[in-house]
Amino acid sequence: MSVKIELLNSSLNKKAFSCGKVMLDNYLHMQAIQDVKRKLSVVFVLTEETTIKGYYTLSSSSVPVEMMPEAIRKKMPGSYKALPVTLLGRLAVDAKFKGKGLGGILLIDALKRSFAVAGESLGSIGVVVDPLDDDAVAFYNKFGFILLPDSGKMFLPMADIAQLGL
Ligand SMILES: CC(C)(COP(=O)(O)OP(=O)(O)OC[C@H]1O[C@@H](n2cnc3c(N)ncnc32)[C@H](O)[C@@H]1OP(=O)(O)O)[C@@H](O)C(=O)NCCC(=O)NCCS
Repeated sequence: MSVKIELLNSSLNKKAFSCGKVMLDNYLHMQAIQDVKRKLSVVFVLTEETTIKGYYTLSSSSVPVEMMPEAIRKKMPGSYKALPVTLLGRLAVDAKFKGKGLGGILLIDALKRSFAVAGESLGSIGVVVDPLDDDAVAFYNKFGFILLPDSGKMFLPMADIAQLGL
């Protein structure tokens, strides 16, 4: 399937986007452009003409070392109290286009982009997500994300993303 994923810009029809989760709809309608201007996040959208079918956001972040599973922690130098990660802060597909593979396409695009940046310009040991509910946990689980205990966050190491051969 050929799809277009581009940076959010003001020529697109943000207001029509509706994924069924008010927080994620409101973010795109009202906050996303401001966040981009403030460099809080980058927002990528999957589009057809001016229609936004889905979107995701990426930001720099960090997680406390103790939040990581022992297997990852023991590979890290003891001097780090927090580890740099890439935050996939939001990912959503418009309800009209769900179940057609677009969520997976957006997620893979986000992983590919995060991996490329970590290899070239900004250290990051993996991608972290904050799933909104059990459905989102099941979705990310399908792609190999693991739950980080006591945080509600999920994590996919760059080493695993490398193995996807994106
Ligand atoms: C979660 C979401 C992004 C999935 O988008 P989608 O376009 O319907 O997903 P896809 O069609 O690409 O599905 C990709 C794979 O994930 C699976 N999947 C999708 N939703 C799932 C769910 N809720 N639970 C388990 N697996 C799920 C699909 O079965 C598919 O697997 P397959 O390739 O083996 O068939 C979409 O339902 C959504 O926008 N939800 C509301 C917002 C949200 O919760 N975002 C995530 C948290 S921020």
